[in-house]
Amino acid sequence: MTSAEKFVAIDGPAGSGKSSVSKEVARRLAYGYLDTGAAYRALAWLVLERGGDTADADAVRSAASDVRLTQRLDPDDRRVVVGEVDVTDAIRDPRVSAAVSGVARVPEVRVGVNEMFRRMVADADYPAVVVEGRDITTVVAPDAPVRILLTAAPEVRAARRAGELVGADQASVAEAMRKRDASDSSVVDFLNAAPGVDVVDSTHLDFPQTVAAVLAVIERSRDADKEPNHGR
Ligand code: DC
Repeated sequence: MTSAEKFVAIDGPAGSGKSSVSKEVARRLAYGYLDTGAAYRALAWLVLERGGDTADADAVRSAASDVRLTQRLDPDDRRVVVGEVDVTDAIRDPRVSAAVSGVARVPEVRVGVNEMFRRMVADADYPAVVVEGRDITTVVAPDAPVRILLTAAPEVRAARRAGELVGADQASVAEAMRKRDASDSSVVDFLNAAPGVDVVDSTHLDFPQTVAAVLAVIERSRDADKEPNHGR
C-alpha cells in the first residue's frame, strides 16, 4: 500500500465542522486522526513566543527550521508539543488564530509541513488516517482514495464558531473568520472542490448527520475500489 492510500483527506473552512466530524469518523473506523491546522498554529505560537511577527516570512522560516513538533494520531489525544512545551490550549488562543495565516502564506513552510504529514501517515500504526486541513485533497494527498470537501454557509459557520468560544460575540467572530478565510483562500482554494472531490455540505445537517454523510462517502469509495474494473 502506498502512503497516499492511507489518507482519508478532508478539507474545508473554519466552522464547517471539519475537526469534530473528522475525529468522530476516525473513532468509528478505528483510524488515526491528524489535524494539520494544529501544526500551522504551533508554528505561529512559536513565532509569537519569540516576540516575532508572522507577517515576517524570515521569522516564520526560522521558527519552522528550529521547531520540534509532536502530534499524536489518536483522535482522543489532541496534545501538541513544541520542543518540551505543551501548546495544546495555547494554539487555540484568538491571538494565535489571528496570526496563523502569516505562517500558512510561506511556501517553503508549506512544503516542509506537508512532507512531515506524509511521513506521519506513512509511519502510522493505523490502517488509514483521517487528515483534515485546507489543501489535503489537492496538494498533500491528491491521489487519496477518499477526498472530501466539507462546507457550510458562512453564517452557519460563524454561529458554530461563536458557540465554541466562551463569551464570544457572533459579529466579531464572523468578522475574524471572514478575514482569515479571505487570507487563507488566497493561498489554497478550500471553498471550491477540485475535480473528483466529494462535497459534503453541512449547512442543514446536524453533527450525527454530517458524520453519517462522510462515512457514506468513505463506504462508497471502498465499494468503488472493489469493482472488478477498478484500476484498469
Ligand atoms: O483549521 P485551523 O483553523 O486550525 O487552521 C489554522 C490555519 O492553518 C488556518 O488559518 C489555515 C492554515 N492551514 C493551511 O493553510 N493548510 C492546512 N492544511 C491546514 C491549515
